Amino acid sequence: MSRSYDVAPVTPIDYRRLAEKRLPRFLFDYIDGGANDEQTMAANVADFAAVRLRQRVMRDVSGVDTSTTLAGRPAAMPLALAPVGMAGMFARRGEVIGIRAADRLGIPFSLSTLGVCAMEELRAASPSQFWFQLYMMRDRNAVQRLLGRARAAGCDTLLFTVDLAVPGARHRDVRVGMIGRPTLKMKLGKVRQLVTRPGWIRDVGLRGKPHTIGNLSDVVPDPTDLNAYKTWIDSQFDPSVTWKDIEWLRRIWDGKLYIKGVLEPDDARAAADTGADGVVVSNHGGRQLDGVASSISKLPGVAAAVGERVEVLLDGGVRSGIDVLKAVALGARGVLIGRPWVWAAAGAGQQGLVDMLENFRRELQVGMALAGVARVADVGPGIIDA
Ligand SMILES: Cc1cc2nc3c(=O)[nH]c(=O)nc-3n(C[C@H](O)[C@H](O)[C@H](O)COP(=O)(O)O)c2cc1C
Repeated sequence: MSRSYDVAPVTPIDYRRLAEKRLPRFLFDYIDGGANDEQTMAANVADFAAVRLRQRVMRDVSGVDTSTTLAGRPAAMPLALAPVGMAGMFARRGEVIGIRAADRLGIPFSLSTLGVCAMEELRAASPSQFWFQLYMMRDRNAVQRLLGRARAAGCDTLLFTVDLAVPGARHRDVRVGMIGRPTLKMKLGKVRQLVTRPGWIRDVGLRGKPHTIGNLSDVVPDPTDLNAYKTWIDSQFDPSVTWKDIEWLRRIWDGKLYIKGVLEPDDARAAADTGADGVVVSNHGGRQLDGVASSISKLPGVAAAVGERVEVLLDGGVRSGIDVLKAVALGARGVLIGRPWVWAAAGAGQQGLVDMLENFRRELQVGMALAGVARVADVGPGIIDA
């Protein structure tokens, strides 16, 4: 719909539109896409929409409080920013934008192994604790070095991602030449995408340098060569990882450990048995195995299996404060958002991200009030219209 007046962005989908205008197409598609036919990605959102809440009245909701704790620390609402690789290619120093916005709201930020900004840059930008996300590498010494750096940077919570034994089949990335061997025509198309986005070129392409994978800059000969990282990462991702490796990780990492990317109750039990402090119910935002169920539909089973033993978080398809409320009601301690935060950072910068997160909080607050609950601890299955 075209309008003759300017409208303020409110929801993640509004920010998505801004990101689409700002980013070269191949980068926008890299964020936006999922695996194969993107069925799981669509189900993540659709299944949230299918959950119905119960409206409860006359319950004194004059002092609704959205605060809680996540990974043992206070959080202003049960929401954290998910690890997103290369966020600094979507917005200038995107990871710094992310942590500063998260600080403003009082919620956790997660830094991907594959972030543009290194953990030391984050530490310099913000005094707060961030969560560090790890992929297992074949070179276990490199893993140990990364964890040592994370500790030194003041990080005490590790998200260990387990749903990327091999990368998912992301057809969109092949189509736009993000992966595979692009033809000359595709290369020229990419140049055209770049020149039609002068704002991105100025802000991120030029002023957003260095474009590195900051946490891995010591493992490649030339830290500014993004292709060198790709070669290294392709040779290092370790599909042989099993629960035994988590036991090893548990021994060398004395901070909190969350296993990110479980959907099945049995896997969640195995995670709890290795001594993990939490699990993240996740299918990587529908970017890995297409055809698996949505995270929200798997949440109750996982929460029933391990909710008493470990903290259960969820990500995938969370697009509003109402979705946060639904996830908490169905057994999550809290949720993470991936695409929404990078859409806001890419489309409207740090202030845009702060505004969007504030809107999440307002929506949660209003949702709690109208469902008749004043505290997060009181949000439970009773507010779900089963
Ligand atoms: C562009 C992009 C990059 C991502 N990179 C990582 C990553 O480096 N590590 C990781 O564990 N998950 C990564 N994820 C998955 C997110 O952490 C999260 O699980 C997912 O985005 C949640 O779904 P949502 O985007 O619907 O909120 C990435 C997701 C996107 C969209």
